[in-house]
Parts: sequence; C-alpha cells; structure tokens
Amino acid sequence: MSPEYLFCISKIVEAATEGDAEMAAAYTEQLALMLEKDGQAEYAKRLRRTAKSSKSAKLQPARFAPKSIAREALPVDSESGLSTAEVTEWPKGSVKMFLSSKATRSVDRFLAYYRATDRLSMDGVAVSPTMLIFGPPGCGKTQLASFIASEVELPLVTARVDGLISSYLGSTAKNLRGLFDYVKSHDCVLFLDEFDSLAKMRDDAGELGELKRVVISLLQNMDTMPKDRIILAATNHEHLLDPAIWRRFTTKLELSEPDDEARAAMIVEFLGGFFTSDLKDVLHTMTTGFTGAQIKLIIGECRRNAILAQRKEIGLGEAVESALALKPETAEMKEGIKDRVKTLKAIAPKTFTQVRLAKIFGVSQPYISTLLKRR
Ligand SMILES: Nc1ncnc2c1ncn2[C@@H]1O[C@H](COP(=O)(O)OP(=O)(O)OP(=O)(O)O)[C@@H](O)[C@H]1O
Ligand SMILES: [Mg+2]
Repeated sequence: MSPEYLFCISKIVEAATEGDAEMAAAYTEQLALMLEKDGQAEYAKRLRRTAKSSKSAKLQPARFAPKSIAREALPVDSESGLSTAEVTEWPKGSVKMFLSSKATRSVDRFLAYYRATDRLSMDGVAVSPTMLIFGPPGCGKTQLASFIASEVELPLVTARVDGLISSYLGSTAKNLRGLFDYVKSHDCVLFLDEFDSLAKMRDDAGELGELKRVVISLLQNMDTMPKDRIILAATNHEHLLDPAIWRRFTTKLELSEPDDEARAAMIVEFLGGFFTSDLKDVLHTMTTGFTGAQIKLIIGECRRNAILAQRKEIGLGEAVESALALKPETAEMKEGIKDRVKTLKAIAPKTFTQVRLAKIFGVSQPYISTLLKRR
C-alpha cells in the first residue's frame, strides 16, 4: 500500500480517537480522491456515502485542507465566489518521482538553493525559488509540484490559472492579487497549473489589453513575493508564454517521456506486489516512448483485472495486450496470434524469445517457431 494511503488511514484513525469530525471528513475526502484517481470509483463513492450518513453534522465539508491552514479562508473568485485554489499536503517521502538524471540534478539544485536561501542572501546571491515546468501531457509536471511540496514539507496551494481568469474586466487581476496575498501570508508552496491559459486570452483580439494588464499584475505579484516562497508553474505550451513571464522563472525544467532507467523504476513502483522480472522486462520493452501516465494506466488496468479475478499475478499476455492497445502503430492491429507474434518479435527480438512468446500466448514453443516461419 502506498504511503499516501497509509498516511490518510492513520489520520482518519487519529481523528476518530480524538473525536475530530472535521479532520476525519477532510481525510476521508482525500482518501476518496486518491481511490478515484486509482480507478476505484465505487469504493470512493461508498466512503463518501458513509461520511455523509454520519450522525455528526460536521462530517460533511468535502474539501481536504491540511490542519495548518484549514481554518483560513482560501482565496475566491471575486465574481462567482468560488475558491480559486485548493490545498493538499503530502508527507515527506510519500510522492514518488522518476526523472532523468539531468532533471533530477535540476530539481536537487533547486531544493538546495531554497534550503540555503538565508546563507545565499547574506552573500547577496540568493535566487528566487521559482520553477517553470513544461513538457507534454502525462510526463509528471503536476506530480513534480506535489513532490517538491513534500520535500520541503509545506502544503501545496494549487491554482488552475484558467480558474483565475474571469470574463469580467479587472477581475482576473483581483483574483491574482487575492491568491498571492493568501500565499504571502501562509507558509506554503504556490503551484500555478495550466499556466498557458494566461496566453489563451490572446486568442480573443478584444482581450489583448486585458492580457497585458494581467501579465503586468502577475509580474508585480511575483516580484513582491517573499524570497522564501516557492512558486511553481506548469504548462504544456511553453511557447505561448509571454517572454517576460518566461524570464521571471529562475529554473525552467522540461519534463518529457521517461528515459530507460526512469521507466524501469516506474514499472517496478507501479507493479508493486505484482512484480516479476518477466513482467518488468516485457513492459519495459513495450513502453519505450510512453509517458509516465500511460505506463501507470497500463499497469493499473492489469492490476485491476487481476484483483477482480482474485488472481495474485498479472499474466504476461494481458500486459502485452494492454501495451499493444496504446501503441499507435499497433492499436489497430488485427486479431490473431500470427500477426501478434511476428509484431512482437520485430519490436524486440531479444526480449521476445520463443519461450516468452509461448508463455504470452499460452501455446507451445514449437508452435511459436512454426508461426514465425510462416509468411
Ligand atoms: N516522471 C514521473 N514520475 C512519477 N510519476 C509519473 C511521472 N510521469 C507521470 N507519472 C504518473 O502519471 C500521472 C500523471 O502525471 P501528471 O498529472 O503529473 O502529468 P502532467 O505532466 O501534469 O500532465 P498534464 O499536462 O496532462 O497535466 C501521475 O499521477 C503519476 O503517477
Ligand atoms: Mg498536470
């Protein structure tokens, strides 16, 4: 069981023994969100139902917020009154990140500078701890924000920038100010997700002036942020960002599909108790060029099927099929063992030995050998 789950469960137990209904509600919701993310929507629903039917009226508020800043009002959109940010807390060590060695060095340096802010300030060489994370979807940008917050042991205040943008003139800048004021007065990490939404305002010619105002407001807010506040931003479309905003971030980190080593570590982590070296080898070969999110999806599906069928193992065949379905070049492949055997052999002759292919398709090795010889 992952540390995030263990942490939530221990908090719910703690809340129960202390009779703290608010805390129980908050962590029950956090647990439900994690279950939902892991494809266990039914369990999440059940948890919520139990929480709702609780005799304690207090066991209702749904949003999770760590105790340290739970009592403070989160910033709200000045028009709709809806919250523009949400708070999550990740215990140290609970968020696993798999990065290339270059990206790891960059994150480590960022954290080292942050931890040495005081010393660096004394020498006048401190840098503001701001990081712009960019790259394709599913490569771990949001995960990295949680990882950094967990490493520095601070709550993560996440604002989706599209939620800050208001259709009312002037309200966007007001929302930004509200958010930054909140972050300035709380010890936390600010995460601006979907950061490119700012640039989307440009699509509408009439909004150009408003965009300029918002960019200026963002720059001013960033510049007046205390030097010890971490600001993270993530985008899939870094080229859309205003150059002045781009320059403001002291670290720019590109995340892309995991390299061989990161992929191997990810597969081991995602397989958990279902790990076998056969599975790891096969999945490693089949997921070349996949994003972390895709790898998680494939393994998640295999695990779910195994659990539902009360199996303790994931079959090599089902792992291969799930990966084939996600590969663009094989997604539309015909049914039939011959094509599949030949395709796998062509993808990686060393991984897909005849013995392994026989295991994958549940047939004998001589039969595989015959299939391979057929035209
Ligand atoms: N490098 C990685 N290390 C660890 N986990 C990863 C990594 N990349 C992806 N994942 C897994 O995939 C899931 C999706 O990743 P995440 O949401 O962080 O991607 P993203 O880059 O923010 O995507 P998007 O651009 O769509 O917002 C995460 O929950 C995480 O489990
Ligand atoms: Mg994301």
